[in-house]
Amino acid sequence: MIIAIDGPAASGKGTLARRLARHLNLPHLDTGLLYRATARALLDQGHDLFDRAAAISAARGLALTDFDEDSLRGRDMAEAASVVAAIPEVRAALVEIQRDFAHRQGGAVLDGRDIGTVICPDARPKIFVTASVEARATRRALELKGRGEKVDYAAVLDDIRKRDARDSGRAAAPLKVAADAIVLDTTKLDVEAAFEAALAIVETCAGGETLAAQRAG
Ligand code: CDP
Repeated sequence: MIIAIDGPAASGKGTLARRLARHLNLPHLDTGLLYRATARALLDQGHDLFDRAAAISAARGLALTDFDEDSLRGRDMAEAASVVAAIPEVRAALVEIQRDFAHRQGGAVLDGRDIGTVICPDARPKIFVTASVEARATRRALELKGRGEKVDYAAVLDDIRKRDARDSGRAAAPLKVAADAIVLDTTKLDVEAAFEAALAIVETCAGGETLAAQRAG
C-alpha cells in the first residue's frame, strides 16, 4: 500500500504521515527533506541559491542518508527549499529516489507536494491535507518556537503565504489536489482528530483485513 499525503506548508501532513506510518508499520519519507537538503548542500558549497546549475548538481548528488534533520527544519531552509524545488531538473533528479522508496515491498507513506500527482499517481489512498493559512501559521510559529527559533507570527504568516504562492504557481509539479485525492481540512482538528480522520480514509480504501495484516506484519 502506497499512501500519498500532500498539502501546503505547515498543514500538518508530516505529523500525520509519521503517525500513520508508525501505526501501519510502514516506512515513511518526508520528501520536503530532499528539497531542504538540496538547498542546504548548495549553500554549504558556497553557491548562490539561484545558481540553477549548482542546484541541479546538488540534487543529483543527494542520497537518503544525507539528512541532518535538525539543521534542515528551520525557517530559512523551508524558504530556500521552495526556491530550488521550482527548478524542473532538480525535481527530475529526485524522482527516482522517491519512487524507489515508495515501491518497497509492503508499501510506504510519502508526504510532500506532488506525491499523488507526479511521483506516485498509482498511490491509494491519496490524502490532501490542508488548513486555513492562519491555522498553519499558528502551528508553524509554535513549532519554530519549540526549536528555539525567535519567531514573530506575522513574519511566519507572510512566509507561508509566499511559499503557498510559489508552490502553487510554479510550472513544474505545482501543488494541487489530485483528481482522486480526498481532502482533509484540519483547521478545526487537533493532531489526534486529524490522525483518526486520516486513518478512517486509509481503512475505507484498504479494507479492514489488509490493514490488520499490515499492522501484524
Ligand atoms: O513542512 P513544510 O510543509 O513547511 O515544508 P516541506 O514539506 O519540508 O517543504 C519545503 C518546500 O519544499 C516546499 O515549500 C516546497 O517548495 C518543496 N517541496 C516540493 O516542492 N515537493 C515536495 N514533494 C516536497 C517539498
